[in-house]
Amino acid sequence: MPDITFIHPDGREEGFEAPEGVSLMQAATSYGIDGIVAECGGSAICATCHVYIDDAWTARLPAPDANELDMLDATAAERRAGSRLSCQIRLDASLQGLVVHLPDRQY
Ligand code: FES
Repeated sequence: MPDITFIHPDGREEGFEAPEGVSLMQAATSYGIDGIVAECGGSAICATCHVYIDDAWTARLPAPDANELDMLDATAAERRAGSRLSCQIRLDASLQGLVVHLPDRQY
């Protein structure tokens, strides 16, 4: 049950305990985090689940695959070094304390 913190563009923070084995997107939408649309439901074809992984965590996540890298070119908000599709990040105990920044838009 990793604790995840989301930071909104206005600096507001929301944190919750997420179940293991689901995607970061699924956890966030289940908790009602604003700012993640996830239009395609996790199929990695919409880029509306874009997030910025905090700098302290980017190297600790498995690298994105080629399809995710392609889709990150289609995000509405600017792509940054920490950009990821939250539907492609599987939560497990190693992500305890993960910090995620939300972009200012998904469209
Ligand atoms: Fe569509 Fe992640 S939910 S790309």
